[in-house]
Amino acid sequence: MKSIAIDGPSGAGKSTIAKILSKQLGFIYLDTGALYRSISYKLLNMNVDINNHILLEDILSTTKIDIKFINNCQKIYIDDIDISDNIRKPEISMAASKFSAIDSVRKYLFKKQVDISKKNNIIMDGRDIGTIILPNADLKIFLTADLDDRANRRYKELKKNGMNIKLEDVKRDMENRDKNDSTRKMSPLTIAEDAVVIDTTGYSLEKTLDVVSIIIKGRF
Ligand code: DC
Repeated sequence: MKSIAIDGPSGAGKSTIAKILSKQLGFIYLDTGALYRSISYKLLNMNVDINNHILLEDILSTTKIDIKFINNCQKIYIDDIDISDNIRKPEISMAASKFSAIDSVRKYLFKKQVDISKKNNIIMDGRDIGTIILPNADLKIFLTADLDDRANRRYKELKKNGMNIKLEDVKRDMENRDKNDSTRKMSPLTIAEDAVVIDTTGYSLEKTLDVVSIIIKGRF
């Protein structure tokens, strides 16, 4: 099976690029952030204390997570309920960043991700795909951009989805998440040794796509 790993901080354009590429290449696209968001959605709704690791493990051991791809669109079911439309709110982003630092949460989702990659040609995006989940990926890309660019993109995206939000709040949350995600002990966001780093600051989506497509053509 062929695999492409795309890692990078939030708002770097990973999922937009991965979605387009997956259609062009006929690969499955797995948005791993959505898995962390989904688990965190459940834990947040249950008001679970993040420091109570025994309770966390207990809940995870009885939690069912299913991923379905319908018309190349990923749907996530937690305990048989489709929660895909409930996981994009800023409070879920922040909860996902916090819960994803917990050992048992990462272990719970590790197998799920690896199993899917064994059965499909796949593009996965996240924080630890090139380093931990797909260390032998055929291509690893680390997509980044400066904080202002990323915050602006995310702000426009959330506004487009009808969310009432301020740019400064988006930027502050993003900065906090970047810090959490890159300084945690378990699988922090780092650049894999063999990754191609692309800084998309000031780039349009088309330009980013052009750059990535050239790299893919050279590799496959
Ligand atoms: O990609 P995203 O913004 O949807 O991810 C939400 C959070 O989930 C992110 O802040 C950190 C965590 N995450 C992770 O730890 N590892 C991944 N592979 C993907 C996401």
